[in-house]
Amino acid sequence: MAEIEKNARSLEKKITPLNVLHVHGVPLLIPSKEMWDKIYNFQARPDDLIVATYPKSGTTWMQEILDMIQNDGDEEKCRQVVSFERHPFIELKFPHKEKPDLEIALEIPSPRILKTHLPSHLIPPSIWKQNCKIIYVARNAKDCLVSYYHFHRMTSLLADPQSWEDFCEKFMSGKVAYGSWYDHVKGWWDAKDKHQILYLFYEDIKKNPKCEIYKVLDFLEKTLSEDIINKIIHHTSFEVMSKNPMASQTAAPSYLYDHTISKFLRKGMPGDWKNHFTVAMNEKFDEHYENKMAGATLPFCTEI
Ligand code: A3P
Repeated sequence: MAEIEKNARSLEKKITPLNVLHVHGVPLLIPSKEMWDKIYNFQARPDDLIVATYPKSGTTWMQEILDMIQNDGDEEKCRQVVSFERHPFIELKFPHKEKPDLEIALEIPSPRILKTHLPSHLIPPSIWKQNCKIIYVARNAKDCLVSYYHFHRMTSLLADPQSWEDFCEKFMSGKVAYGSWYDHVKGWWDAKDKHQILYLFYEDIKKNPKCEIYKVLDFLEKTLSEDIINKIIHHTSFEVMSKNPMASQTAAPSYLYDHTISKFLRKGMPGDWKNHFTVAMNEKFDEHYENKMAGATLPFCTEI
């Protein structure tokens, strides 16, 4: 009975998917040109730390790691509110919030952690001008695609993905929110040679979280004890984050995310694409991938 009521409530408040605006040919979840002007003119502070990713690449995971680092391993401080209330998502206006996140960001004391999915060439110029530190997390295309497909199914923020085959086609041709995965990962890879960018891979964090957390600490010029680092690894593991409503997003309004369709923290493993791709689909994807990534030196791995 409680379940039926919950579903009815979530249907009642079901919101329409966010509008897409094409900015320099990239489909972005931005309702208007006016909003884009505000985003582009966003004023960064020199001590802002930016988490940049293509959707479904481990953004929430990195946010949790950074929150724990910023709070010197104090889990309680990181459990106060759900992640999207902690770190403004600079280009988004959540339908349940009164203001766009870039306005909320103005009220947050420094040092702020900000999230973005923008491709590097659309980043607000003041972020470059202020020489902000940026952590970019990249995830292999196949797992990213699978995760994005399931996310479209469970969130009312995005349009229905239609069939799995349809969604694959859209992903490959960049006709999804935030555009081409290929351009995104390559654009940020090139940008890292010109700006303060730490470029990390989801699969590396999964394989050896300690090593990647040390890279983050080095980048942030911060030292923490071995005990605190172990605590961060524990608190940000898939298992522990899945049980933490503030990280698993189960504390978010049910009309935003329907965890009965698919969980936000779904599998958390490289290689789940193998459960979705047919042999024919895989061959087609690989051929397309070779073309799109020709000449790129990005060291992706699709399983660990
Ligand atoms: P899956 O759908 O493959 O499970 P984002 O935060 O960018 O939206 O990315 C979500 C993806 O990151 C989901 O992938 C989610 O499970 C995964 N993820 C989040 N926290 C994780 C963790 N601690 N360990 C491994 N994967 C994690």
